Amino acid sequence: MSLPVPQRIDLVLIGTRGQVGSALRHRLARQAARLREAAGIDLRLLATFDRRGIAWDLAGLDPDDVDARLAPRDTVALRSLLGHLTRAGDTPTVVIDCTASDEIADRYAEWLAAGHGVVAANKRANARGLAQWRTLQALSVRHGAPYRYETTVGAAIPILGPLRDIGLRGERVRRVSGVLSGSLSYLLERLHAGEAFSDALGGAERLGYTEPDPGEDLRADDLARKLLVLAREAGFALEPAGIRVEPFIASAQAEPGNWRARLADEDALWRGRIAQARSLGRRWVMLAEADAAGARISLQALPEDSPFAALPAGQNLVRVETELQAERPLWLGGPGAGPEVTAAGVLSDVIDAARTLAAAAPAGRGWRRAAA
Ligand SMILES: NC(=O)c1ccc[n+]([C@@H]2O[C@H](COP(=O)([O-])OP(=O)(O)OC[C@H]3O[C@@H](n4cnc5c(N)ncnc54)[C@H](OP(=O)(O)O)[C@@H]3O)[C@@H](O)[C@H]2O)c1
Repeated sequence: MSLPVPQRIDLVLIGTRGQVGSALRHRLARQAARLREAAGIDLRLLATFDRRGIAWDLAGLDPDDVDARLAPRDTVALRSLLGHLTRAGDTPTVVIDCTASDEIADRYAEWLAAGHGVVAANKRANARGLAQWRTLQALSVRHGAPYRYETTVGAAIPILGPLRDIGLRGERVRRVSGVLSGSLSYLLERLHAGEAFSDALGGAERLGYTEPDPGEDLRADDLARKLLVLAREAGFALEPAGIRVEPFIASAQAEPGNWRARLADEDALWRGRIAQARSLGRRWVMLAEADAAGARISLQALPEDSPFAALPAGQNLVRVETELQAERPLWLGGPGAGPEVTAAGVLSDVIDAARTLAAAAPAGRGWRRAAA
């Protein structure tokens, strides 16, 4: 009996030399043969670009060795590739966004409408208004174009998929809450270990745990985007303005350009807060929550033995309370960031999207199988 020929799937990777994009390319190169054999999909890197370079080869690029193939990015080459992506081709295609760019997120609608899969590590598209989120979901369904963004909350931890499934089987989520920010968890761990706020922040910046502008972390902007994605997937129709956000430090919100001048005040404030929590057997946690009453992000002093308070820095944890799992809620946890784990999660999304497209292939789209 002859084995079925694997379905060829073209990949277009945006963010070639970024941390996640690079880790994903190496993982793709390592897994390609196994995926042909075990999953029946032949993933080919058709094209890739970042802000500086672009490479495109109809025969497929070696994901481990694109550096030598990247030409300086010019508008003609980019326009031609983006034009190619506005049409349904004869090979199913998955576009992978490993940037944090609004300009790239703006294009998801046209890619989905052309029937291409979209896999995003980028939160931007789903952190906009509810109408736009619904449009992307509807385009995905209408055009049979898988849209996956599991790594935008909790990196490789499968959180959004299980939440979506809970909704699809008709089970209402009553409350979803979690520790979702790696940078803020790291800061809190250092503060509880006795470090001054300014030293803890300096350490987080040196280790690359913060956004290029740490004000984004301290205002909880990125955390609010994650909560928006999480809450919507849990079935709460939430607008960005509907989240009540208590910033990690008030000056980052009140004085966005000048908060560093207030670091001495924060050192004193946090010394007092940590001492107070310790005397009560509690630890500070930056908790993101959504339920029927709304969505909020707040600093809470929780008992030391609460699973959220006992969490090591860098780990994320989400608690999901549903109508069938109220007494014993579902807990999902694991490393919440890092290029390797995130790339692993992105590849899971790519495999899922590719399988969905491959399953649709024989239904008359005339898509090309891989050469034997
Ligand atoms: N790192 C993590 O642990 C982690 C975890 C979960 C989710 N994520 C998300 O994954 C995404 C990538 O993160 P990262 O850490 O890999 O960031 P990064 O190292 O800064 O890489 C970003 C990449 O995007 C490219 N890029 C930016 N704007 C672009 C544009 N308009 N057109 C084409 N390419 C563009 C950059 O190109 P140039 O180098 O040419 O500028 C670079 O290759 C972000 O959305 C992040 O929030 C990251």
